[in-house]
Amino acid sequence: MNNKTLAIIKPDAVRDNYIGEIITLITKAGFKVKAMKMMQLTTDVAKAFYAVHKERPFYNDLVEYMTSGPCVPIALEKENAVEDYRKLIGATDPAEAAEGTVRKLYAKSKAFNAVHGSDSDANAEIEISFFFSKEELINNYPA
Ligand code: CMP
Repeated sequence: MNNKTLAIIKPDAVRDNYIGEIITLITKAGFKVKAMKMMQLTTDVAKAFYAVHKERPFYNDLVEYMTSGPCVPIALEKENAVEDYRKLIGATDPAEAAEGTVRKLYAKSKAFNAVHGSDSDANAEIEISFFFSKEELINNYPA
């Protein structure tokens, strides 16, 4: 059975022109793109998306970072999507990320870490519906 996860190419990676390289790594790893858009998050939207972190000391900086330029949310599908995507992107801190992972290649620091990935199947559903309507999710890939 195919699972879903939400990726976001964050503003630092968009600014550095890494959209293509990152999507190539994702698709070469076997993920299918179900929906994708480029958008500028407002402060309210970024605060809502990261509400789970609102008590963290880095929350305001995180909201500022995520609103600093356009980002690219992507709904992905693959067997074992959440875990496999997290393996593909590597640890939150690029200094701890494995060689060849997206964050090792493209992230600058633990805060400016190039990409987001959902941390569970339940959160993936919530996060995908945060950015995409049912109509925007493509369901017509051949098997
Ligand atoms: P993400 O996977 O999108 O989820 C929460 C984000 O908060 C994380 O990526 C980082 O961008 C940021 N973050 C997590 N930990 C820290 C930290 N210790 N200091 C600053 N930013 C952090």
